[in-house]
Amino acid sequence: MPSIRQLFLSHVAKTNEMPLMLEVEHAKGMFIYDLEGKRYYDMNSGISVSSLGHCHPNVVKAVQNQVEKHMHTMVYGEHIHSPQAEYAGLLTGLLGEGLDLVYFVMTGTEAVEVAMKLARKHTGRTEIISCKNAYHGSTYGSEALRSDYEFTMHFAPGVPGVKHINFNSESDLLKITTETACVIVEPVQAEAGVIVPKNDYLKLLRNRCKETGTLFILDEIQTGFGRTGHLFAHQKYGVQPDVLLIAKSMGGGMPIGAIVSSLEIFSAIVKAPSLGHITTFGGHPVSCAAAKATIETIIEEKLIQKVLEKEKLIHSLLKHEIISEIRSSGLMMAVELKRRKYLKHVIGKCMELGLIVDWFLFNNLSFRLAPPLIISNEQIVESCQIIIEALDYAEKKYKK
Ligand SMILES: Cc1ncc(COP(=O)(O)O)c(C=O)c1O
Repeated sequence: MPSIRQLFLSHVAKTNEMPLMLEVEHAKGMFIYDLEGKRYYDMNSGISVSSLGHCHPNVVKAVQNQVEKHMHTMVYGEHIHSPQAEYAGLLTGLLGEGLDLVYFVMTGTEAVEVAMKLARKHTGRTEIISCKNAYHGSTYGSEALRSDYEFTMHFAPGVPGVKHINFNSESDLLKITTETACVIVEPVQAEAGVIVPKNDYLKLLRNRCKETGTLFILDEIQTGFGRTGHLFAHQKYGVQPDVLLIAKSMGGGMPIGAIVSSLEIFSAIVKAPSLGHITTFGGHPVSCAAAKATIETIIEEKLIQKVLEKEKLIHSLLKHEIISEIRSSGLMMAVELKRRKYLKHVIGKCMELGLIVDWFLFNNLSFRLAPPLIISNEQIVESCQIIIEALDYAEKKYKK
């Protein structure tokens, strides 16, 4: 009998030649456990997914209850499923004007695809603008938003009509014109290495979109659900999007995403042509039940109120000679090192010591910290001690 590891190596398709290969036995709260019972602090949350930690009892119970009632019954948007309708009512009640309708999908990238289609149809324009060093997903439309030509050229030709601007550049806002259907932007750039908006950048961007009749689309797929210390980052930075995109932590570990906007904008995919976007599993009732339990738990456990205090605590504990800067918005953090060669040693040593941190797609000087919001102050202290030990190790490696 081949082992699970052998089956993985022989028959599970990979996305790179050196997968992490952590063989997960179970995961609970802050921790992931491997087959030998080794415990790992998950300071990454599966890239901003497990905000409630792993297998939160409220989410597990909601999933179990729903599975016993019904699972899939029809492609999205036709049958009435109570978890979906209740969730949509709950979520839109927490959002501002113009965000009162939810279109449910399966993943973040699908939400981005729908948003691009909505923008073109609603405005009758074709040009789409995104920011350099943004990541919005891996399907063709989302991938076209990526500025990294060295990467996208391998899959060319991509979706035409996409232009890129620099995040935080006020002068680049003039590239948004009456030809532009939409601007798709993350309120805090995640994969660029946690780049926070400077001054009033997002407000200026919002205003420029208003002036030119361009849809202002915010990708809150990483920043949503309390990660930045507000329920959504647009609430933190004081801007209201025309279209809001969410996924990742939305389902408390279950796959789900959504586009939130107005009836006027959504009519673009309802009429002429109707069925402008079809998704079989979008808004799966089990995922919606999990999403509802997730947001209720975030609110009941007052997790968001404690995010800024935890962010501060991490800043105060992570002091080291080889750190050049820590950028953060709530518990979305990038620890930047003075030299690139330190990075792999820090990440590798953390893993060896039982703590998971991660790389960014577009920043090779920094590592990511995005712990579950449930992390306790004691767990922060323990995690930072491990990270300091890994930083010491990397520093020693290059000491003459
Ligand atoms: C900001 C952002 N947008 C979109 C996506 C795509 O989400 P998914 O992987 O669920 O398709 C990601 C994934 O990492 C993301 O970070």
